[in-house]
This record gives sequence, C-alpha cells and structure tokens, in this order.
Amino acid sequence: MNVEVRPSDASYAEQSRTAPLSLPPDKSIFHRLLIIGALTRSKLTIPITLIEDIPVDVYATILALQSLGVPIELSRSMIELEGVGMEGFHAPTHQINCSNSGTTARLFMGLLAGQSFSSRLTGDESLSKRPMKRLAEILNSGLGAKIETSEKGTLPVLIEGRELHGATVDLPVASAQMKSAVLLAGLYSKDVVRIREPLQSRDHSELMLMSFGADIEIEADHAIRITANGVVPLQNITYNIPGDISSAAFLIGAAILGRRNITLKNVGLNPTRIRFLEILKGSGLEVEISQVKEEWNEKKGTVEIFGAESHLSKPLAISAADIPLIIDEIPILAVLASFCPGQTEISRAKELRAKESDRLSALATNLRSFGAIVEEKEDGLTIFGDDTFIPHGGSIEHFGDHRIAMAFVIMALRARERVTISDASVVSISYPNFFRDLSLVVGKNRIHIA
Ligand code: S3P
Repeated sequence: MNVEVRPSDASYAEQSRTAPLSLPPDKSIFHRLLIIGALTRSKLTIPITLIEDIPVDVYATILALQSLGVPIELSRSMIELEGVGMEGFHAPTHQINCSNSGTTARLFMGLLAGQSFSSRLTGDESLSKRPMKRLAEILNSGLGAKIETSEKGTLPVLIEGRELHGATVDLPVASAQMKSAVLLAGLYSKDVVRIREPLQSRDHSELMLMSFGADIEIEADHAIRITANGVVPLQNITYNIPGDISSAAFLIGAAILGRRNITLKNVGLNPTRIRFLEILKGSGLEVEISQVKEEWNEKKGTVEIFGAESHLSKPLAISAADIPLIIDEIPILAVLASFCPGQTEISRAKELRAKESDRLSALATNLRSFGAIVEEKEDGLTIFGDDTFIPHGGSIEHFGDHRIAMAFVIMALRARERVTISDASVVSISYPNFFRDLSLVVGKNRIHIA
C-alpha cells in the first residue's frame, strides 16, 4: 500500500468533520491479557469493536499461545480464550515465530523459562536484530534459567525449561518488556523474586497480575515482589481493552498541527502512559480528561484536545525520568517539537536505538529530509524548533517501523508539497486503521491511498 499526503491550500481544519474515532485496543494490555489469561483456568472473553482494528503484533502472541496448546477463538465481535493454568502448556511442535513483536519475544522468554519443556523463538528480520541477550542473562544468572541467544545476542533464542529459583534482580534499564518477562518467570520460581528497575516503566503487567489474584506487591523505589502462587483463577473474565493512547498520540499530533479539536473516548489513561500529554500541556496545549473510570486496575476515559484554541508555544520539556514513560511517543513528540519555538532536548534515550528501527537515526534522517534542524546525539536528539516551519515535500523512509511511518505522515500534513510513503501498511503493527482515522480528523482529500 502506497499513500500520498496532499498539501492543503486552506487549513485542513475547515475540510474535516467531527466523527467518532475508534482507536485500536491497547497493544501492551492485549499481549498481557492473552498471556496472563492463559495462566488462569478461567474463560476469558475480549469483546472487539472491529476485528480489523486488532494490532498485527497481537497475532504473534495469539499464534504463540496456540502453539502451546491454548484454545483461542476469534470471531468478528470477540476473542475467547480458555485458560489452561500454570502447568497446562504443551511443548510446541515447531519453533515459535514472534514476527515483528518485541513484546511477544520478551514476554515468552520469561513465560517459557520455567516450563518443563524446551522451545525456540524466532522473529522477522527487524526483530532478529533486537537485543535479547541482556534479558537472557538476567533470567539465567538471576533465576537459574537456561536461555541461549544467537552469537549476536539476538533471536533465535533457545529456552530449556527448568525449575527456577528466587532472586533479587536489578534491571539494567527501565524496560516494561524485561520487567514483565521476569515477572512471568517469577510466577514459576520456587522462592520470592524481587525486581528493581532504575526508573518507572509502564506497569500493565503488575496491575493485571494483581487484579487476577497473583501474589504480587509493589514496594518503594520501583521494586516489585512476586511469589510463585500462580494466578488464582477467577470465574469467567470479560475484559474490555481500552483504546491505545500511544496510537491516539498520532491523531493528537494531527489535531495540534491542524489546529483542530478532537475527542477520544474510552482511551487508556494509565498514569505510566500519559506523560506525553503532560509534556504537551507544558508547552501550551489545552487538554481535558474526563469520565475516568477504572476496570481491572486500569484507568480509561475521554481525552479532549483543543488544538483549535491552543498551540505549542514553548519547547517540549522532557526529563530523563520521562523517557520510559514516553518511549513510544518520542517519534511524534520529535515531529511536534520541530513546530515548537525553541530547542527541545531528548537525552538518556539510547533505548530508542533498539526499537523496531534505530529510532534516533530514523528520526534524524526524516526530520532533516523534511527540512527540520536536528542534531543526533548518542543518547538522544536536539531539535531546533520554529513555529513558522513548513516541511518540504518528498518521501518518508520508515525503516520498517510503524511509529516512524505514522509520525512523519503527521509531519507531512503541514508540508508545502505532497509527500509519499511506500509500504505504508507497516502501520498495521500497532494501528491497522490509522489512515481511516486520520482521514476523519484531517479530511479525506488530504490522504490518498494507492
Ligand atoms: C512495551 C514496552 C515498551 C514499548 C513497547 C511495548 C510493552 O518497551 O516500547 O512498544 O508492551 O511492554 P520497553 O521494554 O522499552 O519498556
């Protein structure tokens, strides 16, 4: 699929209309729900508004669980899963292909470490370049797992399931994927596992394990304690997954650059995921959050963005502690920073080099090709923003990375000439209907799909 973003003579605020936007279900919660649901002995029902909205990454987790013998059925309106319990997995007959999904690979390393069988994880070209060794080492040296990566420290990964022991584990970086992998392994450990991370990362695993009855405690200073009591089966579980706030961030970007107001309903508002909204507010954006409710320990509600009545008037203020909390929003924040007067500094963000692409380099390359002024540092970017900035036209190089593709499609909305993006279906990894929703925000005439 090739997409062309066409320039607008008038402000695209005039050409768009208000329409209900249905965001994709939160990808992070979705992966965890399937895995933790499988660990219960309950029937799990996940209502789905539109099956086409399911992030493609999630299918990697569905297929991985099915290959371990977990019954999962998909229909147009729901996913149903029969929890098999902690000891209910079968040895897979084939290697497990995690496709492009880092979350699947990392979480399954933790899940499979304590099984009574061996398994092998593989992935696509991009995932096969991403680091797996640091997690393997933590699980091996801390909990006594036996996990072997390729020589380069990547997939394929061979996991020889065995009995795990307790440990106190210090994560070298704040990473929700690593933390969640150790938590899942911790469920299988003979003794208590304590995990400490240098900074707070997203906490969906902890919240879900707690709400599903696992013996887990959050201690001071980002430490978590988990014991091997397993996941206490509840009765049947129905879990409505909130809309993905990280996907919403791109529509929010479109609303800001298009000076338009939008309302997003039923969107996930977990405090470890909404830091980017605070950062945008700090630069002058008016945001209102309402109708907040909590289900399964997760907050959700309505977010209103007043892009027509407010604008970004200062550089974005991003601290080191913010980085793990905005890890997936940095691409769109970097784009927005180009339109904020002044210098935005992103530092201590080296983790971005180990995402679906080297995001620091991919961001610098595309920002420059659009005419923005940026300096690439070893651990971040300095963006010299300007509120009169008008990007050039041209083409987007997304490096196979869904978030790089979406971030620069948003930048293209302000471009003087048309902008093209090939293989644009890469956005499906997290947001299959991105172009549909974006058209609703900015007007159909702006987005042309070839
Ligand atoms: C995720 C954690 C984040 C994020 C990724 C999803 C998760 O990575 O970038 O898209 O679901 O746990 P970290 O492991 O760097 O926190």
